[in-house]
Amino acid sequence: MIGSSDPKNPKGLVLFDFNIIYLSIQSISGILQWLSSSCALARLGENMAFLKLVDSCEQIFTLLLFKKNLKMANIRSIMSTLGTEKKAEFGSDVLNEVLDYLAGEKWSKLRHYLSPLFTTAKLKQMSDVMSGSTSEFMNDLKSECDENGRLKIDCRKRISTWLIDLFALTTLGIRLENAKNPDNKFAEAFREMMGEKDEYNLLYSLSLSFPFLSRFAPTFNDQPTKLIESTFRQIISSRKQQTGGVTQNSKDFLDHTKEFKDLGIGENTIIAQAINFFLGGYDTSTTTLSHLLLALADNPECQEKMHDEIMSVLKRQGNSEINHDTIHESNIPYIQACIYESLRLAPPFTRPERICTKDWSYKGYSIKKGTHVMLASWAANRTSREGVGHNKLMPMPSYHSFFEMEVLGSIRGLLNPKNPQGLLLFGTLITLSVFNPFLGIFAMAITIVLAQARENYGVLEACGIPVVKPTLFLGSESNLHKTVVHFADVERYKKFGGIWGSYVGRIPEVYIADPELIRLIFVKDFVHFGDRKEADFGSEVLNEILDYLPGEKWSKLRHYLSPLFTTAKLKQMSDVMAESATEFMDDLKSECDEKGQLKIDCRKRLSAWLIDLFARTTLGIRLEDAKNPDNKFAEAFREMMGEKDEYNLLYTLSLSFPFLSRFAPTFIDEPTKLIESTLRQIISSRKKQQNSKDFLDVLVDLWGRVNTKEFKDLGLTENTILAQAIDFFLGGYETSSTVLSHLLLALAENPDCQEKMHEEIMSVLKRQGNAEINHDSIHESEVPYIQACIYESLRLAPSIFRPERICTKDWNYKGYSIKKGTRVMLAAWAANRNPEVYPDPEAFKPERFLPGNKGSLESYAFTSFGFGPRNCIGMRFAYENLKLFAANLAKEFRVVKRADTEMKYKKCLLLVGFSPLYVDLQAEAQREKLD
Ligand code: HEM
Repeated sequence: MIGSSDPKNPKGLVLFDFNIIYLSIQSISGILQWLSSSCALARLGENMAFLKLVDSCEQIFTLLLFKKNLKMANIRSIMSTLGTEKKAEFGSDVLNEVLDYLAGEKWSKLRHYLSPLFTTAKLKQMSDVMSGSTSEFMNDLKSECDENGRLKIDCRKRISTWLIDLFALTTLGIRLENAKNPDNKFAEAFREMMGEKDEYNLLYSLSLSFPFLSRFAPTFNDQPTKLIESTFRQIISSRKQQTGGVTQNSKDFLDHTKEFKDLGIGENTIIAQAINFFLGGYDTSTTTLSHLLLALADNPECQEKMHDEIMSVLKRQGNSEINHDTIHESNIPYIQACIYESLRLAPPFTRPERICTKDWSYKGYSIKKGTHVMLASWAANRTSREGVGHNKLMPMPSYHSFFEMEVLGSIRGLLNPKNPQGLLLFGTLITLSVFNPFLGIFAMAITIVLAQARENYGVLEACGIPVVKPTLFLGSESNLHKTVVHFADVERYKKFGGIWGSYVGRIPEVYIADPELIRLIFVKDFVHFGDRKEADFGSEVLNEILDYLPGEKWSKLRHYLSPLFTTAKLKQMSDVMAESATEFMDDLKSECDEKGQLKIDCRKRLSAWLIDLFARTTLGIRLEDAKNPDNKFAEAFREMMGEKDEYNLLYTLSLSFPFLSRFAPTFIDEPTKLIESTLRQIISSRKKQQNSKDFLDVLVDLWGRVNTKEFKDLGLTENTILAQAIDFFLGGYETSSTVLSHLLLALAENPDCQEKMHEEIMSVLKRQGNAEINHDSIHESEVPYIQACIYESLRLAPSIFRPERICTKDWNYKGYSIKKGTRVMLAAWAANRNPEVYPDPEAFKPERFLPGNKGSLESYAFTSFGFGPRNCIGMRFAYENLKLFAANLAKEFRVVKRADTEMKYKKCLLLVGFSPLYVDLQAEAQREKLD
């Protein structure tokens, strides 16, 4: 009951609430019924968790915790680190004493006393018995063959009968009565005792959760067990009489010293060990040999090799007897390999286990005293080398967080018919509806909505990805509308390392910041991650922008657009950019006061200038009223990009409850329409020009091809071409204004950097003998420091803070898996602050990017333009423009920090947004005069 009212267990709380509601309205019998079902469920949920472990030996463990049992898929060191096996209760005083389940000193001493049984000398002695028995077995089989020399056998039955006899010979030195008959009494008794006829039934499964049911399950305490116990007791005691209790070994089985008594080792213990050798040996060997026979039947070529191998050994040995020497590894490596392979494929002990006797911790996991740890040997023996291994990037969530996560996660299958727990709750709801239909319907509706909101919980954990803990039903991002997400990414990177997951509402998403994962996902394994998430902007035009087109349509269009970004084209456009930058400086200068000073709102001034620049370079036109920062077109772009908006609670809620998104604003509004109609008119009326210094000639050319079969097949329409023109504005103006605003802020805070930039550009201009800054003046070899300042601004403030890919084909790497359909986001602010690449990562230090230092930087830790075939198409264009601006600025102005200079980020989801950022510009000319 405490479990169901435990605040850490929301599932329990929901149930508890239902109980309280129910208690207030129903009769005493109903109350009792409710309480009992609730307590039972609380106990059931108590111990459920799903764990994923990685050990030092580069192996992955998958552990499933159920009723405090950890079932493990692969393990090396843990079995020797943890304590004893689980104490067993077989319902027999003798069987309860088998070595396997003894604990502590009793186990260790007894194991020590038994060790003389397994020395090399003893083994060699026994080998004679074994080889005699084996050849006898073969002769028996041969004698039963038909005239064609064939015999049908039931592998398990025949082999187990022979092995039981063999164990009687080796363990007790006796032949069993009627030993060759597969149905002999003793063999039957062993098989029955081992429950060979039984399979686990529902009663057993239920008894794991509700232990009182185990009372009704069968135990070992039955006839066959008694027969075996009494036979062994008789054989051992008659042997004792023969030897007078004295053997060569002072620590004989039948030793009755004080030491044995103190340890609780009595006659039952000794008999148990003898039985145990049978149990441990005959069933396991039977399984292995049966699998070997099956494998050989399936692989005649292996039999061929085995036969050739043993025949040539016998020939070499000059006899036809197979003995201890014959089967040495050096003689029969292939036969030995076949046995190993059968043992690997079918380990008879499916789950060797340990019970933790002392709290144990390793790399963030802890296993509590009393927990059962099971080695899932069938799984472990099937571990492929590829795709496993300890990954240093993966921080280990604690046992408790896993525990809570899975308990939370289990609600998701509430209405899944395969989930009895969910069905129980569902059934309870139905009952509730019968007694009080309104309350029932209400409770059921709430349950369905909650179950849906949580439907994907647990999915990321199952892929080996550490996860930002989800809330009851709002996913991991319940505070999204209050979060500056790029800061959250930086914090999560510090907490989780290079990869983590988050439930964005109900959607599982993966975030990466590790250079190697970035390389794999963005470049090497691009075939798995070719697309971005499909977007619906509510506009037929905007839905066609390159960024969100999928597959072939994207790749073909990207190819058609590539002539826009050739070196020759860039050089032509550079003239326009240089002219525009100089003009912008002149405008700013003309607005300065008598001291040459001007206060600006960085983003507003820069974006208005950039929108005009993009109109010139993309469309070859000047905007009406271009110099006015509030001009109609600039305003329309800013509005379209939602510059005034921040994400609100409605948005956060709509992630878990998508129907709410209907009430969220879309892109279909006045500004979008103005932009679309203006650009449509410009493109459709423009004639193709030779050597135009803009993008329009290429766009016009593509516009002319929309009626061709090729374009039609790909779905490339006029809207698609128009969308690209808009996209260059969208992709370019906002991103560039973010970087340049951050540059202005950094310069205001670092006057020494401005000094260096100024000196650098002035000396270039002096060398070039002109006062104009152009494409040649801003070559890296001329302005390495200015270029480094741009890189450093881009590093510190990547405008697109989460370049993304959608996984289009399941992907695995070092124990992580990413499922088809999952969105993977590059956490650019985090990745660009990798402390191993950028010491003191928050500091503005352009020196990192000077030519002497740049080469040593990890290229996948500079993520501001994305990577791979789908990286930023306008990167070179952007660099050219950013450098022209910075060089002009350094020539004409100093940036001065004001009392109200402050960077206040907004809560945006795609691009970095911030409130007005004010700085003063001080014209160089006046500054010199003032100095
Ligand atoms: C400082 C300026 C800029 C920055 C920081 C920037 C950054 C980015 C980033 C991070 C991406 C995503 C890359 C990826 O997913 O791997 C991107 C894509 C894109 N950018 Fe830029 N960008 C800038 C300027 C521009 C300019 C000037 C243009 C156009 C002239 C442009 C057009 C695009 C387009 C069309 C895409 C989508 C490419 C595709 O999906 O194939 N960007 N940009």
